Amino acid sequence: MPTSALRFAIGDDDFLLDGEPFRILSGALHYFRVHPDQWADRIVKAREMGLNTIETYVAWNAHSPRPDAFETEGRLDLGRFLDTVAAHGMYAIVRPGPYICAEWDNGGLPAWLFERSGTGIRDSEPTYLAAVEDYYGHLAPILAPRQIDRGGPIILMQVENEYGAYGQDKEYLRKLTELNRRIGITVPLITVDQPIDEMLELGSLPELHKTGSFGSRVGERLDILRRYQPTGPLMCSEFWIGWFDSWGGHHHTTSADEAARNLEELLARGASVNIYMFHGGTNFGFTNGANDKGVYAPIVTGYDYDAPLDEAGNPTDKYWALRDVLAKYAGLDSAGGPDEAPGPRRAEPPAVGFDATVPLWQVLDVLGTPSVHEQPPTADELGHYRGFMLYRTEIAYRGAAILRFEEVRDRAQVFLDRGAVGVLARDHHDRVLALPAGDGASRVLEVLVEDQGRVDYGRRIGEPKGLIGPATLGGAPLAGWRVQPLELDDIEPVAAALREAATGLEGEAPELVVGPAFARAVFDLEETAADLFLDTSQWGKGVAWLNGFCLGRYWSRGPQRTLYVPGPLLREQGNELIVLELHAAADAQVRFTTSLSLGHTEV
Ligand code: GLA
Repeated sequence: MPTSALRFAIGDDDFLLDGEPFRILSGALHYFRVHPDQWADRIVKAREMGLNTIETYVAWNAHSPRPDAFETEGRLDLGRFLDTVAAHGMYAIVRPGPYICAEWDNGGLPAWLFERSGTGIRDSEPTYLAAVEDYYGHLAPILAPRQIDRGGPIILMQVENEYGAYGQDKEYLRKLTELNRRIGITVPLITVDQPIDEMLELGSLPELHKTGSFGSRVGERLDILRRYQPTGPLMCSEFWIGWFDSWGGHHHTTSADEAARNLEELLARGASVNIYMFHGGTNFGFTNGANDKGVYAPIVTGYDYDAPLDEAGNPTDKYWALRDVLAKYAGLDSAGGPDEAPGPRRAEPPAVGFDATVPLWQVLDVLGTPSVHEQPPTADELGHYRGFMLYRTEIAYRGAAILRFEEVRDRAQVFLDRGAVGVLARDHHDRVLALPAGDGASRVLEVLVEDQGRVDYGRRIGEPKGLIGPATLGGAPLAGWRVQPLELDDIEPVAAALREAATGLEGEAPELVVGPAFARAVFDLEETAADLFLDTSQWGKGVAWLNGFCLGRYWSRGPQRTLYVPGPLLREQGNELIVLELHAAADAQVRFTTSLSLGHTEV
């Protein structure tokens, strides 16, 4: 247990803890994806699985939504998280990026960074490096005193993340290494790369200990890693035991037996490991990332990852299979472990109707201030980095007309005089929409654009959102836009409008939710310790909030069918659910299920 100051070092063959060989048996758990009241539960379960270390990334953009902010409250209290790790007798590995990938919005890089043209991305360009330095300045008082040689749990820190898959600016890696040392990081520094020659070559420096990211073909991968890291301990610092899901895809699962066999092979070779993920958690709010390898593919809200603990923190078959392997290396009693029975469960509360709905158009004035522009600006140009933008202009045309945008990022709902006329989707490469025949009269064109999550891997990191480039109608540029970013960080103003609308209805529940609209439901619970799973399978596409907390996005496209509601968010009386439905609900009822429903798997 890390109570007194110890030295952690890299020896000729092993990691050394106060001079003694030490094997790292770690599991990934991102504090920012789990309710803070549940951190301890997950950490204890990691220890009971046979792990001795918890690894976390740091998501810079979560802490710094604006350049002048560095937030460390609640789910972002990294210091408290590391103290909880230590309090349960575990060590910690911290991977602060600055780029983290992680299926997280923009791979963790704040979108505001790229407002100034010419700002570097993951290289030694001065404006970028100055911002990184500022970020590390905020991390210093949290991380430096919590290193093992100062009595804390941190044994390793990582520099960048799979840099060999992206860049070749060794000066950048040198600057990051110096920066770590300058803020007082004394523990060994590692890099992680996929075991591919070029990546291992480009992604590190001689003074950084190289580790690998992979989930199969263990022997072959360790051999490749060994060629680039000829001495010292071998480590798979991202041992992929599952995978993430994207909207429109299937829910990924992998074999528990195979994961256990691969882990056995890794440990039998004497390697150290970080299981990615031990517990994935949830992309609450608008925090999910996306991939784009030719087709834009946003990540779903759940980050279950088919991990040993599921999205709700319950041990899965994989937990027990991996525990069996770890038991002999960790000296565990093979019959022990957490209760086989899943955590507290409740009978789901009865379905409730919505008690009010208000069209989005009616609450625009509480969602921010519009501004006027000749050409449609991007969301980023207005300093708005997540969620929705509303663009409005007036048009008049006769007969058929084609509306065209250079690009929509990422999904645009088009309205004429508030009537829906179509959707343009980035993942379909949609750019044009045929409008219903016009009669020459002036009509209000409104385009509601959703940023579905910034790309987290590859060259598209840092790209702006909203409407991109000129908009034209029948080839002529559309000018005179009124543009409003929708401020949804605080849902209370919308909640207040809904409460007022509910009073007007005097208990008569609306039977239809016609989007885009907000809807509200209220329910009581007999016990509040247990989690709930909001069943979104009858709704279209939107976002849900519970007691003011944004649970994330839902979408009939799937695969995900439920939104996870952590028990600590709930209360006995007057739980308030608010939904922004963009299209329509097939059933205007709020239902909960007793377990996660992450959707169909590949057959
Ligand atoms: C890479 C990255 C991680 C994560 C995984 C896939 O290894 O380093 O952040 O994106 O891929 O889950």
